[in-house]
Amino acid sequence: MTTPTPLNQDELKALVGQAALQYIVPGDIVGVGTGSTVNKFIDALATVKDRVRGAVSSSVASTERLRAIGIPVLDANEVEQLSVYVDGADEIDGLGYMVKGGGAALTREKIVASLAQRFICIADETKLVATLGRFPLPVEVIPMAAAQIARRFATLGGQATLRLKDGQPLVTDNGQHILDVTGLSITDPLALESEINQWPGVVTVGIFAHQKAQVCLLGTAQGVKTQTY
Ligand code: 5RP
Repeated sequence: MTTPTPLNQDELKALVGQAALQYIVPGDIVGVGTGSTVNKFIDALATVKDRVRGAVSSSVASTERLRAIGIPVLDANEVEQLSVYVDGADEIDGLGYMVKGGGAALTREKIVASLAQRFICIADETKLVATLGRFPLPVEVIPMAAAQIARRFATLGGQATLRLKDGQPLVTDNGQHILDVTGLSITDPLALESEINQWPGVVTVGIFAHQKAQVCLLGTAQGVKTQTY
């Protein structure tokens, strides 16, 4: 008898992307996140697109992908509430708190997530952590405030680095910059998110604690594990 080859990370992402379809309410508008795992979800959505009225998207990249498969993309201002928002994460802990923003889409992700009744996180098991903070914390900032925000992180023991693309500061879909902060152990995500939100020049901090997941579909060697919080 041959032992089955374990699924690779890409296949695990496809598995959870497909599994997220079960949360879509027929005829509804769905909130769609950003990233390589969400791209698998969008691929899966293509197979059931007649069941979806439209989507609210969290990035230019996801909007283009959704339109390419024929799903209408609505402006967030046109929608009062979404039943679900489906997105990946850079880290998720045992309570559904997450770090997000590795794809620089954190601000729109938080806005769309806040319209939704349920955040369905799709992730492979490498994203599960005991304590948030291993992944550098993304923070979208107004460029003129970047240095003073970096100094504030230093007082918390964090080292902030300006994210670059092709040697230049990365510019987000909102025209702002991203700081990636290492060295933080995020033991109280709710409190730290609230505190950083108060700092002048912070657009969005990538801690999703006030906007946590209600469900996580975790891709593991044993298949999709469903965690609810
Ligand atoms: C983008 C995000 C993504 O959800 C996060 O980076 C995970 O991406 P991936 O599915 O590619 O691992 O927050 O801003």
